[in-house]
Amino acid sequence: MRTAVGIIGGGPAGLLLARLLHRTGIDCVVLEARTREDVEQRQRAGMLEQGTVDALREAGAAERLDAEGLVHQGIELRFERERHHIDFPALTGGRTVTIYAQTEIVKDLVALQLAEGPPLLWEAQALAVEKPESASPVVRFLHEGREQTLICDWVIGCDGFHGISRGTFPAAGSHTYERDHPYSWLGILADVAPSCDELIYARGQSGFALHSMRSIHVSRLYLQVPGGTDADDWPDDRIWDELDARFAVDADWTLHRGPITAKSVTPMRSYVHEPMRHGRLVLAGDAAHIVPPTGAKGLNLAVSDVRVLARTFAELHRTGSERLLDDYSRTCLARVWQATRFSYDMTRMLHAQPDGDVFENRLQLARLRRIASSRHAAAELATNYTGLPLLT
Ligand code: APR
Ligand code: PHB
Repeated sequence: MRTAVGIIGGGPAGLLLARLLHRTGIDCVVLEARTREDVEQRQRAGMLEQGTVDALREAGAAERLDAEGLVHQGIELRFERERHHIDFPALTGGRTVTIYAQTEIVKDLVALQLAEGPPLLWEAQALAVEKPESASPVVRFLHEGREQTLICDWVIGCDGFHGISRGTFPAAGSHTYERDHPYSWLGILADVAPSCDELIYARGQSGFALHSMRSIHVSRLYLQVPGGTDADDWPDDRIWDELDARFAVDADWTLHRGPITAKSVTPMRSYVHEPMRHGRLVLAGDAAHIVPPTGAKGLNLAVSDVRVLARTFAELHRTGSERLLDDYSRTCLARVWQATRFSYDMTRMLHAQPDGDVFENRLQLARLRRIASSRHAAAELATNYTGLPLLT
C-alpha cells in the first residue's frame, strides 16, 4: 500500500486528523490496532474547550455534538464544606465549555470515515516505522494475519501513550519529562441524573472527588484513590459513601445515587516527549504527551495538535512549503507545556497528599481560598480551563 500520510492510531487524534486531511484533498490511511467496538467503547474524557468544538465543526463532524452537547457556563469548587462558582463568561469575556463524551466524538468520526473515507483499517497493528528520515518512510503492520507495509510521504504517530511511534525517535536529541502522582482516579458511570448542572471539583477532607456527567440521565464521577487501587475493592456503596463525604457542604444539596454501569482506575501522570517530529515522523496527542485529567486537557491537547498539523499539511499541499511543518513541534509544545502546568497545578491543589503532609494541605487550602476570594485568581483558572489560544 502507498499513501501520502500514514496515520497510526484511530483514537480522537488519528480520526480527526484523517477527517481534516481528507477534506483538504490529502491522501491518508488510518491503521488502528483494535476493533471498532473497542475504540468506540473506551471510556475517557468529556469536557471540550471551544477550540475543540470549533475543530469538530470545521471537520463537519459536530452535528450530534451541537444537538446533544451540554454547554456549561462554569464549574463549582468545593472545600471546607463551602461552594464557590467559577463563572467562565464573566471571567473570560464570554467563553464556555461543552460536555460531550469522547466516546461519542469517536463514534461520529468513525461513522463519517467509514462512509466517506479515507481508508480506516481495524485490527491493523503497526509494528515499526522504518526510514523516518527518508522521503518515503514505511509503516510495517500486521493485518488479516499477515505482515504488510504502508509506504508514505509522512507518518503521523497518533498511537497514544502505549504506541510504537515515540520509540522510533533516536535517543540522541529526544528528551522526556515526566512526573507520576502518588494517587489514581477511580472513575464510574452511573445511570442517574447528575446532582448538579455543572461540574463540581471537591477537595474533601479525605481526598479529591469530581462530579461530571455524560447527559441529563447519566452521571460520570471520579474519586481520588491510592495508586495501584483495584476497582474490585470498591463496591458501589463504598464509592457512593466516600463521594458523599467528599462533596459534603453546608447547603441544601444531595448526591443522587444510581446503578453503577462502569468502573475503572486511571493512574495520574504528567509526561512530555520533545521534540514531536523526527524527519518525516510526527507525533500528535497522547503519543507525545499525557496530562493528569484534573484540568480536562488530554483530549483538548490532542485536538489542538491535530488542528496545527492539519494546517501545516494544508500549506504543504497548497504551496509545497514545509515552513509550518518545521515549526510544528515548537508551536505545539508551547501549548502542551501550558496545559501541563495548569493540569499539574490543579492536581496538586485538589488532591490529598498520601503522606498527610499538613504543610502541603494548608497550602492547598490557601490556593483554593485565593481563587474563591480573588477575581484575578479566579480569572486565571477560568482562562486556562476554557482553553488558551491555539497559537501562542
Ligand atoms: N498500531 C495501531 N494502532 C495503535 C497502536 C499500534 N501499534 N498502538 C496504539 N494504537 C491505537 C490505540 O488502539 C488507540 O485507539 O492508537 C489509538 C490511540 O488513541 P488514544 O490513546 O485515545 O490517544 P489520542 O488519539 O491521542 O487521544 C487522546 O484519548 O486516551 C485519551 O485521555 C486521552 O482524552 C485523551 C485522548
Ligand atoms: C469527564 O467528564 O470525564 C471529565 C471532566 C473534567 C475533568 C476530567 C474528566 O477534569
